[in-house]
Amino acid sequence: MKKAFVIGHPIAHSKSPLIHQSWIAEHELDASYEAIDVAPDDLAAFVARLRDGAFVGGNVTIPHKEEVMGLIEEIDPLAAKIGAVNTLVVDNGTISGSNTDYVGFLANLDAASPGWDKGLESALVIGAGGASRAILAGLIDRGVPRIDLINRTLERAEALAAEFGPTIVPGALHDMASRTEGSGLLVNTSSVGMKGTRFEGLELSRLAPGAVVTDIVYTPLITPLLAQARAEGFAIVDGLGMLLYQAVPGFKAWFGVEPAVTEGLRNRVLAAL
Ligand code: ATR
Repeated sequence: MKKAFVIGHPIAHSKSPLIHQSWIAEHELDASYEAIDVAPDDLAAFVARLRDGAFVGGNVTIPHKEEVMGLIEEIDPLAAKIGAVNTLVVDNGTISGSNTDYVGFLANLDAASPGWDKGLESALVIGAGGASRAILAGLIDRGVPRIDLINRTLERAEALAAEFGPTIVPGALHDMASRTEGSGLLVNTSSVGMKGTRFEGLELSRLAPGAVVTDIVYTPLITPLLAQARAEGFAIVDGLGMLLYQAVPGFKAWFGVEPAVTEGLRNRVLAAL
């Protein structure tokens, strides 16, 4: 039996077991996927034991995504650029790590809004944390010519711009209204929108006609940002798809089957949120 895991601390709220167990059942695989709570002090010992081969791999979530990079043999260049690993594959005692948030973000947009990147002249990204790094890498990879990056703490946006190159134009969150000017894609990568929080004085009317607005927050599924964007006639893409699509590459690597992100899976995860 092939066994996989998700480690984090805490881990009880992770929806990854539901996603992977659904796919295991759907494909009738002799496989398992379990959530394991690993405290920061126990991470090194857990990773060392993986080389024994009890697991084919697994996912890594908060707070271990950066720390784990120092404990494994191989890191995918993209994960190194993003600075976080969320997927491990164990092969003959060698552990390699990758970051599938990037794939998840792009695949979700591709599925929900095909052609979103065609002719896209500029995008506006809000937030400069770990999620932002994966999304910036994805947008740069797709050739978006200009990315305005705004953040509450301006210095963090400036630091990311210095690191990711001249495509990124940093700014402050309070300049959001003017920064929306002409943008064809707005991405919220910050935690604003969770637990009833919202952007103050949100002004979307200067986005390009037909712009797509997407949020990585998926609790609630329709954040205040998405609700306003929809009311103003923009296309919206919620963040649940990113969670589902980021799980695909790991499942494929561990179990050799490419799983599908279906409406049924989406509804099952939605019901469990
Ligand atoms: P993640 O890895 O999920 O991106 P993070 O590194 O903690 O998490 O980053 C969270 C992002 O949300 C940051 O851009 C943060 O802004 P700061 O860099 O100024 O901290 C942003 N954020 C969180 N709460 C916010 C709030 N109430 N208003 C505006 N931005 C907020």
